[in-house]
Amino acid sequence: MSYFEKIKNVPLKEGALILAIESSCDETAASVIKGGREILSSSIISSMTEHIKFGGVVPEIASRAHTTAISQAVETAVKDAGVTLSELDAVAVTYGSGLIGALLVGVSYAKALAFSLGIPLVPVSHIRGHVSAGYLADKDLKPPFIALLASGGHTAVIDVKDYYTYDVLGGTLDDAVGEAFDKVARVLGLEYPGGPNIERVAKNGENTVELPVMLKGKKGYDFSYSGLKTAVINYVHNKEQKGESYSVADVARSFQTSAVGELVKKSIKAVKERGYGVLSVGGGVAANGYLRQELEKECKKRGIKLVLPEKKLCTDNACMIGAEGYLQYLNRNFSDLSLNAKAYVELSGEKND
Ligand code: KG4
Ligand code: ZN
Repeated sequence: MSYFEKIKNVPLKEGALILAIESSCDETAASVIKGGREILSSSIISSMTEHIKFGGVVPEIASRAHTTAISQAVETAVKDAGVTLSELDAVAVTYGSGLIGALLVGVSYAKALAFSLGIPLVPVSHIRGHVSAGYLADKDLKPPFIALLASGGHTAVIDVKDYYTYDVLGGTLDDAVGEAFDKVARVLGLEYPGGPNIERVAKNGENTVELPVMLKGKKGYDFSYSGLKTAVINYVHNKEQKGESYSVADVARSFQTSAVGELVKKSIKAVKERGYGVLSVGGGVAANGYLRQELEKECKKRGIKLVLPEKKLCTDNACMIGAEGYLQYLNRNFSDLSLNAKAYVELSGEKND
């Protein structure tokens, strides 16, 4: 009997132990999650320091770092969870979106492990994982709710209708919000990743730089971060050409206020319009203190329940892959050993394929 023949009809367990693996970017992460909601362990080995001098993640360096880190990340996750490999019920792995070479390391490792243990291999979409971080942050969180996804590659307001069905209400027409943070940081001479550095510098700044209103006059839930980013770049270049000084802190603060303001405005609008009363937030930019503070303030004012995962569950991690992996496991979304990595996976797709 082939591997897939053997696993495709395995009985499902409610409190299944899932080993999750994430390697889409510069973090090699592994985690053991119980029943999709309980984190038993989380291990992360990052190659970020190797990328800083290049101003962004270098795919080849990231892939090589994953190959050296993955065994250790998995061994640590299993050991910290206090379980043995034979107790695992499934292996969940990020198969996209992300850097192909980086994803392939996790996918290959997960395939080999699932095959050798004779348990299901569950393919997980990285971006759906960011949304599922909410299930770890609040054990009572159940669809329907509105999710704000704000990462380096995605910006979207999503109506999570049920555990599997996403209605994407709006997304970015150009740059993702995290990407804009990174590009603005670069023009201000701040190190990669830009988001945390903009946040740090903005604390000492004022909102003195006038920036354009995003998609002025347009209703709906779409975002456009390219105009905002270009306005900042033009402001800085203009000052430099004229030999005038400017405050990096003020530019960072003004940009952050504007970028975050749009995320808050549109996600609150969606909660009000859909009437669910619940907003869950995910993605690296959701680690931003100003965004967190504004969401808390606005949700409190309107009686909206806010699910705000702790910062380490917002930036890339394997716990969120385990949470989403559990849902896919319950849906018997198992893969055979032909699973491949994908640079881009649709956010709205009902099933991973
Ligand atoms: O979700 P994530 O870790 O990886 C992707 O899936 O893209 O998001 C990374 C993005 C980067 O653009 C980074 O600059 C941004 O999240 N980020 C932040 C903060 N921490 C990370 N942006 C603003 N403020 C932060 N504190
Ligand atoms: Zn991510």
